[in-house]
Amino acid sequence: MTAAGALDGQVALITAAAGAGIGRATARTLALAGADVVITDLDAGRTAKVADALAEETGRKIVGRPLDVRDEAAITALVDEVLADRGRIDLLVNNAGTSEPAPLWETSTESWHRVLDVCLTGHFLLMRAVLPHMIERGSGCIVNIASIEAWTDVIPDNVVYQTAKSGVVGLTRATAAQVGRFGVRVNGVAPGLVPNPFLSRMIPADDLRRLHERAPLQHTITPEDIANAVLFLAGDSGRSITGETINVSSGAYMRA
Ligand SMILES: NC(=O)c1ccc[n+]([C@@H]2O[C@H](COP(=O)([O-])OP(=O)(O)OC[C@H]3O[C@@H](n4cnc5c(N)ncnc54)[C@H](O)[C@@H]3O)[C@@H](O)[C@H]2O)c1
Repeated sequence: MTAAGALDGQVALITAAAGAGIGRATARTLALAGADVVITDLDAGRTAKVADALAEETGRKIVGRPLDVRDEAAITALVDEVLADRGRIDLLVNNAGTSEPAPLWETSTESWHRVLDVCLTGHFLLMRAVLPHMIERGSGCIVNIASIEAWTDVIPDNVVYQTAKSGVVGLTRATAAQVGRFGVRVNGVAPGLVPNPFLSRMIPADDLRRLHERAPLQHTITPEDIANAVLFLAGDSGRSITGETINVSSGAYMRA
């Protein structure tokens, strides 16, 4: 889905978009729909490279900036820079996430904070940084990437990640309730398993195949499937939707 023109003239900011997965696919989809996109990720060189590749492919203005979503000062500086340069941020996609599966009784306090900081506090910090601008303009849209692990135990011993992603669902709903009257919408997308090299290291190939086959639609979810849901929520198609978290999981959320 490109929905050409759906986001014409809009400026989007997305975190963790220089990987191989959902973030990059979402940046590409938003750009093909007409948005100029500021992509961010941990590594400056990789982020700049991906920005250049996406700009060439989509013909949009794509800026790449390094950003660790745990770094409050860097988030403020980046949002200020984008507003000074472009004058607006219409869409924020909070995509950064990480997990460190372990039984709860073997989870260190450091691991607990690392996973919550990236998966949940990062979403909070980015939203806090862009909301004053969106509220002042009386419009804006935020999409938070959660996971079906907010409601289900897909990957065993993933309790901190599951806690963080449940938090994303709650944060999304509560923030949406606060900012709706200012014309700002906040929604979430909860992906099922989207294969990538990191996931393949965590889950044996046979288990991964079984999990896909167990889902009612029995097919593999792609990063583009998630990106299309983000686009649906971000564009006018989502104008009456706020506070929701939509599962994109081939139906796996019912069975995992
Ligand atoms: N892949 C899946 O099966 C799956 C399933 C459900 C939810 N999700 C969620 O989707 C999102 C994207 O995951 P993905 O698997 O597509 O990977 P991805 O390739 O889109 O994103 C991973 C990126 O996150 C970046 N990152 C890690 N820590 C960061 C930090 N502190 N600050 C900024 N960036 C950081 C990495 O550099 C990497 O480029 C995550 O929130 C993840 O939890 C993924």
